[in-house]
Amino acid sequence: MPSVEIRPGIFWIGLNDRTTDLFEGIWPVADGGVTYNSYVIRDQKNVIIDLTKGFKSDEYFERLDAIVPLSEIDYIVINHMEPDHTGAIRALTRIPRKCTLLATEKAREMLAAFYGITENVQSVADGEVLDLGARKLQFVHAPFVHWPETMVTYDITDRILFSCDAFGGYGALPGTIFDDQCSDLVYYEREALRYYVNIVAKFSSPTLAAIDKLAGVPIDVIAPSHGLVWRRDPGRIMELYSRWASLAKGGGEIGVTLLYGSMYGNTEKMMNAVAQGMSRAGVPVEIFDAARTHSSYILPSLWTYRGVMVGAPTYEGTLFPPVAQAIEMAALKRIVNKKTAIFGSYGWSKGGIAAFQKLVEPLKWQVTDMLEFRGSPTADMLKKGEELGERFAAAVKTP
Ligand code: FEO
Repeated sequence: MPSVEIRPGIFWIGLNDRTTDLFEGIWPVADGGVTYNSYVIRDQKNVIIDLTKGFKSDEYFERLDAIVPLSEIDYIVINHMEPDHTGAIRALTRIPRKCTLLATEKAREMLAAFYGITENVQSVADGEVLDLGARKLQFVHAPFVHWPETMVTYDITDRILFSCDAFGGYGALPGTIFDDQCSDLVYYEREALRYYVNIVAKFSSPTLAAIDKLAGVPIDVIAPSHGLVWRRDPGRIMELYSRWASLAKGGGEIGVTLLYGSMYGNTEKMMNAVAQGMSRAGVPVEIFDAARTHSSYILPSLWTYRGVMVGAPTYEGTLFPPVAQAIEMAALKRIVNKKTAIFGSYGWSKGGIAAFQKLVEPLKWQVTDMLEFRGSPTADMLKKGEELGERFAAAVKTP
């Protein structure tokens, strides 16, 4: 995609990445891609805000040169050190340049650790203002959104917030960068939620603190480093992030994540009966086969719904591993205070449910029901499964 002028003298020079299969080496993005947004401001002092991932350097500097030659850049703002935004800095270490890197003090240390860069780095204080000539930038520290060194940059003159990871989302950009020109906002909001839960959710408390800190700041445009630029309704993505961050305490919307695994179809038969009971009771259900679905897609459902129904056979005396692994990932992301229930088949000895209880106890998941059966479920047992679903739906409806 060509560069886009988002305000006179302010350019988006981001890049779509449709070839990386795993973001951060973990999270699948092969389907829709991801962007590394970067911005350049032409003024009496020329500034780049965030760079791009290393393998995109050639394309990036070519694009930059078409707007402001690198030799005329005065400052590069490093809002965040993660290499999806700084990888291209390696190229800068190999060529003469006059520009100064601006970052938090913590990022200064990390620039040395990641890239061996110690010269021409200037740390900026929280609230510090940089005069570019026609416009002014203000640096606002936002620790742990996403790493401890993170800050955001606010263009006081044009009221643009360059928010880096905050308010970002997955999804390569569809020929436009703006929310008001995007024909499928539902997709980008869904991918923003997946990104939030995969990347930012562990840091929900700092995210809420950053949103609080920005309260009262007039913002006309949110320009994050991943995903859409929000100029028609910047409040929309802030409101979504605020809502998602508030779910860190637990609870959530009325609905159930049905997480299951099945070796020979017996637990799956019961899963369908339980799902029928819950759906009949009018509760939304999202079903995931844990063995065939990456946790990236399961986590947003776990994060947003208040109920978790688990179906898993006993496997070698413990919980079916794909289901256990999905719950372990939920634990890593601190998905807490949910209502939960479990069902599953066993062959000759039990153990799955006990392992499940041990797994969810530190997460404060309240186990409301259990249903275990040997081998294949009988018609009577399937009836009990439907009733389990109905009871759990009622429990989830209760605050
Ligand atoms: Fe987009 Fe935390 O890097």
